[in-house]
Amino acid sequence: MNLTLQAVRRLAKTPAMHALLDSVDRDLRQATDLLEELKSLNRRETYRLQRLDLVHEVKQLVEQLRIVPRSPIFIDFTEGNDKLVVAGDLSRLRRVWQNIIRNAMDAAETGKKEERPRLMITVKRTGKFARLQFRDNAGGIPRQRLVRVFEPFFTTKGEKNRGLGLFIARKIMSEHHGKIRVVSRKPFTRVTLDLPLHAAATRSTPERTAP
Ligand SMILES: Nc1ncnc2c1ncn2[C@@H]1O[C@H](COP(=O)(O)OP(=O)(O)O)[C@@H](O)[C@H]1O
Ligand SMILES: [Mg+2]
Repeated sequence: MNLTLQAVRRLAKTPAMHALLDSVDRDLRQATDLLEELKSLNRRETYRLQRLDLVHEVKQLVEQLRIVPRSPIFIDFTEGNDKLVVAGDLSRLRRVWQNIIRNAMDAAETGKKEERPRLMITVKRTGKFARLQFRDNAGGIPRQRLVRVFEPFFTTKGEKNRGLGLFIARKIMSEHHGKIRVVSRKPFTRVTLDLPLHAAATRSTPERTAP
């Protein structure tokens, strides 16, 4: 939390003042969040590419989200046997994954609860790409919406959302020479992320035999 705000909070004496500070805190958080998103739209913001173990990184994010559940969605993570190394900017990629997971959570919160809300995450290798898939059962996206989900500021969630999540996700993916696709068939939504594998990881090493 903002330090100044913390200091002011200590001085606050009444519940009404605390409530006001809570809402200042919320506004500030939203503004910071928006700023971060807008910053990530700036091409000149430097990318810090590093070799990443994709399975490890996604697993870490999932573990974090399991500890602090924002909605009662069950996250299921399945990894393949391959070690998938990609060159990526970790904080940006995490933003992509978080945006997708948040969307599934939002949908689970608002959707009909016929089934237990689930998000299945899978990682596997397909040719020269590492493929990460997110599949939720929270209702799906009707066709007339589906064609617009990557548009900036397209949102069906009203005031508090900005409709930038998938727009930014696509931008970040394309700057990693990767791809994002969203398909839906009621009640499922599947988001697929393809990232090129790190060159060294795709080169196969010949088997050695002892003399
Ligand atoms: N998993 C999902 N299930 C249902 N609808 C989705 C899902 N992901 C995205 N959408 C739809 O796509 C729209 C755009 O998503 P996004 O760009 O992340 O913006 P926001 O989340 O701010 O609305 C959402 O408002 C929603 O209608
Ligand atoms: Mg979103």
